Amino acid sequence: MELPFGTISITQDSRRLIDQALDSGRVSNGKYVRQFEEDFASLTGTKEAVALSSGTDADALALAVLYDFGAERGDEIIIPALSFVATGNSVLQAGFTPVFVDVERNTLNIDPALIENKITQRTRAIMPVHLMGKPAEMDTINEIAKRHGLFVIEDAAEAHGAVYKGRNVGTIGDMAAYSLYLAHIITTIEGGVVTTDREDFADVLRSLRCHGRACKCKVCVVNTSSGYCKKRFAQGRDIRFIFERIGYSCKMNEIEAAVGIGSLRMYDRIIGKRRHNLITMTERLAEFDEYITTIHEEEYETMGPHALPMIVREDAPFCRDELTDYLDKNGIDTRDLFASMPTQCPGFSFLGHKLGEFPQAEYIGDNGLHIGVHQNLSDDHIDYFIDMVAKFIRRRT
Ligand SMILES: Cc1ncc(COP(=O)(O)O)c(C=O)c1O
Repeated sequence: MELPFGTISITQDSRRLIDQALDSGRVSNGKYVRQFEEDFASLTGTKEAVALSSGTDADALALAVLYDFGAERGDEIIIPALSFVATGNSVLQAGFTPVFVDVERNTLNIDPALIENKITQRTRAIMPVHLMGKPAEMDTINEIAKRHGLFVIEDAAEAHGAVYKGRNVGTIGDMAAYSLYLAHIITTIEGGVVTTDREDFADVLRSLRCHGRACKCKVCVVNTSSGYCKKRFAQGRDIRFIFERIGYSCKMNEIEAAVGIGSLRMYDRIIGKRRHNLITMTERLAEFDEYITTIHEEEYETMGPHALPMIVREDAPFCRDELTDYLDKNGIDTRDLFASMPTQCPGFSFLGHKLGEFPQAEYIGDNGLHIGVHQNLSDDHIDYFIDMVAKFIRRRT
């Protein structure tokens, strides 16, 4: 039996829209991207959604918005030490300095008790990650941010559908960045989106995604209906060629948006199935609690069903890589549970951190893995996965 990590469902609706886009000749950012943005904003309950070409761009652009609101290049952004490496990369790509905070092993998320010590005169924002769809401790994070005048940007790349104390994750900070990569819950194949309630932030995001140009209308008449733009020469010069800020080139295209529109129409079905899989797998994994732990849902939250994380305990008679290898040989696709970016990712070594500074993140980096819970996995797949883990443990004990 095979359990791939991710899947993609391209619906009939999406196929029809893709054909229409191809026939129309307009495949770059246009009316389907705008529709996807509207649908995504209404799903999350935010006023604005700005679609981009990846979740990494979503993180980086949300951060780059801050230059219009008082931040300076080199200022500091607080992030968890443990995340997919894109979180750290995006801070550097946006021209900021990442300041890492260790995580809690039982939630995988930034340890709120360690944040305040890391705040300096140059701190501009906290970017918590809702890792594996588990909401970060947003009340404490927002309270610290408010006291120190900091922005909060949620890295919600893995947290579609997560709820924290009655509020959708992604609506709790100033902005939220989602990935729409194909292993994620809602997908455009490759893609990302930033949500926010602030229209001024969304304007800057639209400028940033297109080279920093001065035109940033929510609905572009040129792109969505080939119409005449009255604003184009209103300032005396073509605003499409006035570049107000250092920008990026990371627009979503119509084909990706068409896939995303179909994916959103299946949202309830996708989330429902993934949650069933996640909860069943979490409950059944309890059988191996002596050797393997996972995260749990508190009564005030709903986890986004991104994937099933597993951490091998200190005194288990096997290591993570032996378990991973066994699962892999038996058709079960796994991923490491990321790494401590500052101390376990060689690319970050120039920042000068030393192994041992982030003990929880490093432990998870050495001993954690995760597997898919996607909508194409059935109860038979779950039975098979549990059987394989049981077989592996029996051989080792
Ligand atoms: C926590 C986190 N942040 C950011 C990203 C970046 O998303 P993308 O791969 O779409 O660039 C990912 C991707 O998986 C992620 O898991």
